[in-house]
Amino acid sequence: MNARFITFEGIDGAGKSTHVGWYVERLRQRGLPVLLTREPGGSALAESLRELLLHQPMSLDTELLLVFAARRDHLERTVRPALAAGQWVVCDRFTDSTYAYQGGGRGAPLERIAQLESWVHGDLQPQRTYLFDLAPDEAAQRRSAVRAADRFEAEDLAFFERVRRGYLDRVAQAPRRFMLIDGKQSIADIRKLLEEDIVSICSI
Ligand code: TMP
Repeated sequence: MNARFITFEGIDGAGKSTHVGWYVERLRQRGLPVLLTREPGGSALAESLRELLLHQPMSLDTELLLVFAARRDHLERTVRPALAAGQWVVCDRFTDSTYAYQGGGRGAPLERIAQLESWVHGDLQPQRTYLFDLAPDEAAQRRSAVRAADRFEAEDLAFFERVRRGYLDRVAQAPRRFMLIDGKQSIADIRKLLEEDIVSICSI
């Protein structure tokens, strides 16, 4: 079966991390070779850049360039070789995060993000993106229960409202690529939806 590139997205605390590992296991149980990776990160250099992005103060332009520098290295060293070898690649966050966080959240011009996107990976786009959607106040409560905030998670509710809106604008532009998941649903109900979608993407 042809390799697929699948991404998981959502504001911090919306629930994607609860499901991505389970999703990969379900694909593997079907006998598919799957690589699970993440952004920012997924290669040695990109993991170093992740540390800077999550913890060092920096300007928006620097942040945007570092996100795409990390992405370029991740694509060259991890994602493209895996796809070329026939593996399915499941990535926890990708360029929709940049549109949502740097674009929606921080106000970077979307045309600038589009230029960087086309330079860094124009021909490569996910076939399927799961967007976990949840109200920012609820997501903040879930986050604070499990971990200390990084530079993004420390932002206020208005920031996460803009990030959420940024994501929903992406869905409006590519509705067939996205599956929008209401993060308020139970874990079991979300897994049922994901399972059904696995069946449908395996049959494409
Ligand atoms: P994570 O905790 O889900 O691994 O994500 C790390 C943070 O990185 C998250 O708060 C969102 C942020 N991020 C961006 O701001 N832009 C991006 O392009 C990516 C991939 C992540």
